[in-house]
Amino acid sequence: MAEFPDTFLWGAATAGHQIEGNNVLNDIWAMEHVEGSPFHEPSGDACDSYHRYEEDLDLLAAAGLNSYRFSVEWSRIQPERDLFSRAELAHYRRTVVACVERGVVPIVTLNHFATPIWFARSGAWSQQGAADLFERYTRFVVEALGDLVEWWVTFNEPNAGAMLLATGALPLGAAADEIPTEQLELTAKFAERVGGQVGVASMALPILAPDAIQNVFSAHRQARAAIKELFPAARVGWSPSVADYQVLPGGESTREDVLAQAIHPFWELSRGDDFVGVQTYTRTLLGPEGVVAAEPREETTLTGWEYYPQALGATVRAAAAFTDRPVLITENGIATADDELRIRYTREALESVYSAIEDGVTVLGYQHWTLLDNWEWHSGFAMTFGLIAVDAETFERTPKPSLAWLGQVSQSNGATLEADAAVQVS
Ligand code: NOJ
Repeated sequence: MAEFPDTFLWGAATAGHQIEGNNVLNDIWAMEHVEGSPFHEPSGDACDSYHRYEEDLDLLAAAGLNSYRFSVEWSRIQPERDLFSRAELAHYRRTVVACVERGVVPIVTLNHFATPIWFARSGAWSQQGAADLFERYTRFVVEALGDLVEWWVTFNEPNAGAMLLATGALPLGAAADEIPTEQLELTAKFAERVGGQVGVASMALPILAPDAIQNVFSAHRQARAAIKELFPAARVGWSPSVADYQVLPGGESTREDVLAQAIHPFWELSRGDDFVGVQTYTRTLLGPEGVVAAEPREETTLTGWEYYPQALGATVRAAAAFTDRPVLITENGIATADDELRIRYTREALESVYSAIEDGVTVLGYQHWTLLDNWEWHSGFAMTFGLIAVDAETFERTPKPSLAWLGQVSQSNGATLEADAAVQVS
């Protein structure tokens, strides 16, 4: 296998709320603590990366990775609507400096699902002026970090809600009286906790309402324009979630519907960006009635997602073809306790990416999800997606063999993938 492009960004991705710990001022934390919370366990101290980011970066850089995707926590930067924290901004500045000092390119996500409580209280993404509020926050962050950060992801998986609707995980257009009572009760408890009105206060994820999605579109456009105005050389994009949608007999129109609702509108916006972010974990089989469960395979994942690494090559090709933009793989990985399986998965995913590159697709980088075993939203700490294990009590980090393996791939710019493949065959 020839090498990947010279400037390829080999790295790992994380998200503030999943690793920092004690993000007590955001909407997700609030929902973690209402009675009957849908979150299996609270995020608590998470990986304590708020204090241990240098150690995390030491391990990433020592392994040989050259980039790190992380997110800035909006609720720390702007704890109240009209209060911005210079001290918290300085924290993220130190994180960026720590990257640069280690020869690691920072890729900064401005919104990885969580939003401040004050933003949730007044209607989250459905409120009027949501895009202006996001632009205001963006400017504050970018002014302070933009001299050292070239790569910006405005929103992580802005299509998460649209995806749940389109694949039938949530009922499309459900009327209020069709929404399960439990869900309505949770909504009321959430409003009580954040101090807002029921029906107004809402958790930002999943972004379901059509008006909210339009506001997120505007927020992306405005943030992109603001970043470019402040730092014209910056590279801006966002990172919709996308599976390899495969059709079973009679499933063609289902696939068209899923793409039309949950993918294409988001990729339309990417056409005006510097890159399209791709986050892919598996394939989704679609029949005439919707999603069809895959046959069990020998390899299993903790999430129950089908082991199907070659999905990544397919989605990279599809995103590039639709948007005509270079692709930055912002997430890809596997939840497993078997680190050898993680290595195999990643190798096969990267081989499928390489084949897309050989066919002429421009791919800028690969950010593995994720650096650390962390708090995986509704599933709590049970999903081990990390290249590094973290002790729940001491926060001690223990790198797994997959970290060194990916570091070698990075150092050889992909050349060691071929040697690995040969070992597997013999
Ligand atoms: C998508 C999300 O961006 C990330 O937060 C999550 O942990 C991974 N995928 C795995 O589910």
